[in-house]
Formats: sequence, C-alpha cells, structure tokens
Amino acid sequence: RDVAVLISGSGSNLQALIDAVAADPDHPARIRLVISNKPGVYGLERAAAAGIEAVVIDHKAFPDRAAFDAALQAELEARGIDLVCLAGFMRILTAPFVEAWTGRMLNIHPSILPAFKGARAIDDALAAGVRITGVSVHYVVPEMDAGPIVVQAAVPVLPGDDHDALAKRIHAAEHRIYPAALRWVAAGDVRLAESGRVEHLTDP
Ligand code: GRF
Repeated sequence: RDVAVLISGSGSNLQALIDAVAADPDHPARIRLVISNKPGVYGLERAAAAGIEAVVIDHKAFPDRAAFDAALQAELEARGIDLVCLAGFMRILTAPFVEAWTGRMLNIHPSILPAFKGARAIDDALAAGVRITGVSVHYVVPEMDAGPIVVQAAVPVLPGDDHDALAKRIHAAEHRIYPAALRWVAAGDVRLAESGRVEHLTDP
C-alpha cells in the first residue's frame, strides 16, 4: 500500500509512522509522499530526512476549498496513492474529496471520540475536568471527527496537568496507536465495511 501523510505542523505523528514502517522490512505500508498545506513546517524536514518526497500545497494559493482539494487529489492520483493518513492536518476537507477516499483515509484525534471533537480537544478536556481522555484513530467522513473508529487509547488527566503536560502524554499515546492502525489497515486486517462499520478481520 502506497501511503501519503498530510500534515500542517510539527509532524511527530508522521515521524512515528515513518519509524514504524522503517523498522519492519515486511511492513504492508510504504510512505511515498508527505503533503503540507503550510510551507516551512518541521514535518517537511522530517520527510526530507527520511528520504520521502515532500510537497507543499499552500491553501492560501487557492480561491476556495474545492480548488485546494482538487490540487490535493491531483497530487495523490499522480503518485498512485492508495491510503491517506491525516496527521495534524488542520484543514477541513470537502465532502467530494472525502467521499473519493472513503475507507482509504485515516485521521488521528487527541480525544476519546465522540467526546471533544474539534481543534481544541486537549484544552476542552482540561476545561471539562475529565479524569480520563485519550486518542482516537478513525476513518474520515465528511462530518469532522465523526468517522468510524479504528482504535482508541485512554490517557489519564493527572492533578496539576496543564496543556503541555497533558499534550505530552496524549502525543505519546498517539505515537503508539497511529502506527498500529496504519499497519492493520494497510495489511487489510481492518477495513471499513459497506455498512459503515469497522471490521477487524483478524484479532488485533
Ligand atoms: C496531534 O495531536 C493530532 O491528534 C492533532 O494534531 C496534532 C498533530 O501533531 N490532530 P503532530 O504534527 O503529529 O506532531
């Protein structure tokens, strides 16, 4: 499976995926392409350091979301990409683009969905005073952070946590479960059924 990873920032999840694939010569995924919608972000350097082709498609250069998504689609098709991983990609994607990738696009989100959807999930969990939050990998559907869940991990909120302390614990969990999810999906051990349910074809 040829994989593209879409980023907007530091790319620590991209790095976790790169490292997991590199560690296993028989890995079912090959990370072929990194796309950032923002120039100059650190994730692009991570891609370069790993010898992975990295492309910037700056959303500011496009008149609207549809035009940006068309450019994304063209790039993914030109490289023969099979599977897309969103990893800190902070753009809302249009429904036609998302639907073109149904069952072939994953996202990582820093909460136990469906709790704390949106871009401020870590701060929202702190503000809510929950004692357990976590991370989710899900298939992407047009509605934000609402897709069928592949895997989740719980993360405790500890007394005295501020954003940075909790974010660090959350990221550590992300870096464990995203590579696991990519392996299952790339291997065909997990798939999105026509019914919209996630099927585990082998025991995880
Ligand atoms: C992660 O917390 C991810 O869940 C969220 O954005 C963050 C990206 O971090 N969607 P990084 O760029 O992978 O370091």
